[in-house]
Amino acid sequence: MERKNILLIGFMGTGKSTVSARLKKEVDTDMLIEKRQGMTISDIFAKKGEEAFRNMETELLKELKSERNLIISCGGGMALRDENAAVMKEAGTVVWLTAEPETILERVKHDDSRPLLRGNKNVEFIGNLLEQRYSKYKAAADVAVAT
Ligand code: S3P
Repeated sequence: MERKNILLIGFMGTGKSTVSARLKKEVDTDMLIEKRQGMTISDIFAKKGEEAFRNMETELLKELKSERNLIISCGGGMALRDENAAVMKEAGTVVWLTAEPETILERVKHDDSRPLLRGNKNVEFIGNLLEQRYSKYKAAADVAVAT
């Protein structure tokens, strides 16, 4: 049987990059977008806007869909577009990594690479955003794993 891919989704700080880096043939969508654009995610948000970044994510996901045997670590917002969730299902098994807001805060508090969390590094903000996104992650996922 032809093996498809494993896609890791979930909120910032739930361990997608950490888990995928330990596995072979890993692709991190944030890292690939940064490499292709020649700038950081923060600069893409600041100079081109979030919408442009989301379009880059969708385009990359569609490209990766035809690959096989990859572990694809998706940026935390990738699962939010229904269009992306549908492409993910075709691309492979979608694993949703989860964590409590307190744990996420601990993991992201010394990292300034995430524009959405700049000035928002507190449990209330993270908890609210997580709640807003919860149904999207759930709908996109085949299985959930608490990290
Ligand atoms: C985002 C998550 C980030 C990155 C960008 C937006 C989000 O990826 O794609 O900052 O909207 O949740 P990580 O989940 O890898 O931090």
